Amino acid sequence: MKIAIGSDHRGIEQRKIIAAAVIAAGHTPIDYGACSTEAVDYPDVAAEVASQVASGAADFGVLLCGTGIGVSIAANKVAGIRAAVCCDLEMARLSRQHNNANVLCLSGERFTPAEFGALVTVWLATAFEGGRHARRVEKIAALEKR
Ligand code: RB5
Repeated sequence: MKIAIGSDHRGIEQRKIIAAAVIAAGHTPIDYGACSTEAVDYPDVAAEVASQVASGAADFGVLLCGTGIGVSIAANKVAGIRAAVCCDLEMARLSRQHNNANVLCLSGERFTPAEFGALVTVWLATAFEGGRHARRVEKIAALEKR
């Protein structure tokens, strides 16, 4: 699968860890910056990664900012995106199983390299459960049409 990766200036180095975990899981990372440590606006990179996923150019996305919150709010403005801020492995797993999250949002500053790797690995390996959760995800999609 193609995994679009992006961050603001608070996730530059961490993106390399994310990309390595994506490759180790057998997938292809596509990097959308930011490329310098100069401050950039997180909605810009969130919009780019979210658009890649929404269009089908990428299968999933991973976004980082200081907290993970800003990129998630921005990405969720793009139709078809279910971006989830995950703070631990259980949230990562449940965001896939229950919410069919298609963009993983992480704080760039709260995890060790091993934790970043584990979060991405678990998130990519976990399938949507469907069933009652499909009905709820459909209701989320319906909100986009209001
Ligand atoms: C940038 O300073 C910071 O606001 C951003 O990385 C993120 O944490 C926003 O939610």
